[in-house]
Amino acid sequence: MDFDQFIQDTETIKKIKKRKFNLDKIRADFPILSREVNGKPLVYLDNAATTQKPDVVIESVKHYYAYENANIHRGLHHLSELATEAYENARLKVKEYINALSASEIVFVRGATEGINLVANTFCRSGQFQDGDEIIISEMEHHANIVPWQLVCEDKNIKLKVIPMNDRGELIMEEYVKLFSSKTKFVSVVHASNSLGTINPVKEIIEIAHEHGVPALIDGAQSIQHSRIDVQKLGADFFVFSGHKIYGPTGIGVLYGKAEYLNMLPPYQGGGDMIREVTFEKTTYNDIPTKFEAGTPNIVGGIGLGVALKYLRSFNLEDLMSHEKKLLDYATERLLEIEGLKIIGTAKNKTSVLAFTIEGIHPYDIGTIIDTDGIAIRTGHHCTQPVMRRFNVPATARASFSFYNTFEEVDKLHDALIKVKKMLG
Ligand code: ALA
Repeated sequence: MDFDQFIQDTETIKKIKKRKFNLDKIRADFPILSREVNGKPLVYLDNAATTQKPDVVIESVKHYYAYENANIHRGLHHLSELATEAYENARLKVKEYINALSASEIVFVRGATEGINLVANTFCRSGQFQDGDEIIISEMEHHANIVPWQLVCEDKNIKLKVIPMNDRGELIMEEYVKLFSSKTKFVSVVHASNSLGTINPVKEIIEIAHEHGVPALIDGAQSIQHSRIDVQKLGADFFVFSGHKIYGPTGIGVLYGKAEYLNMLPPYQGGGDMIREVTFEKTTYNDIPTKFEAGTPNIVGGIGLGVALKYLRSFNLEDLMSHEKKLLDYATERLLEIEGLKIIGTAKNKTSVLAFTIEGIHPYDIGTIIDTDGIAIRTGHHCTQPVMRRFNVPATARASFSFYNTFEEVDKLHDALIKVKKMLG
């Protein structure tokens, strides 16, 4: 794509001209997709771990360092102004992308993990949690939505209440409702499971939390790149996601928080930018979101993320989602042809994540062998050990699809798995 033209195009991502869904042209936007691995064309099916980057995102990183590099919010010189404008413009793009009420509700963090840690930590320090209070999470949480709460709980005797799931990997909503008590102080639930693919009914989950007067955080690490997120419609009090899973750079992510909460919470880290005035006796803090962004932030990461969101908005999102759904359905059908293959996570409403085991073969062996054919999938517990325990497996193999994947790549995965079976089955 022509970077200069793409960047100059209207700055509000709402008005950007839409492109037609053309798979060849889309694939040409992602340089890495044309490389070979082990002498074979790369088949990249590890998109739930991280997504590949379109050339406009790669170019934006280069452009920033080549022409605009300076620190932000600190200098009156030309470059500092350019960098500040680019960074704050990226915040506006995020605000538009998720339809937040205000850009001040968009806090740049390292990723979804840091977003959850920030909320857990500051909620605890704000005095909201009393001894014996309860936090509701679910059985399908990624470690990033379990461990931060345990760290908070360590010195407070706070209990985690866990929404169970059925054998398809769907949350049992009747059980969720029963978990509330007068001690429930927070609900934190994943939108789409990275290890099962399940899409949870988060709007309903949030509504139920609110009926009990409890705020809700949604971990959108696996949903932001596959669905239309409108935080106002969802009613989420907090929503977190990582830039690298939505075609942006690593090391940048977003914590969306309703202004009323962000204003109420204390700062997360201390340092430059987050202060208003510092004396040795007392420090006062900046307004949101800067109150939560101590030190020089990941400027280029923010800018790259803004470009990634703009790139996505240059398509009709529904076209991308529809292709991903077709890939998931086709892959499910093809993989089920393989004898001994079992899909882990068979929810009715799934994102394009397909986790499986093959009888008698360790997932690590599957991953290693198909890598020799240039096929990248993830194997292991996917940072969801409780999910593995629930399904009584030590690990799974997981293929995860993006809109740039093809049906032919699904066939290659199928054929490579047959080869694995012949070798080891
Ligand atoms: N949480 C990421 C994954 O599911 C890294 O692979």
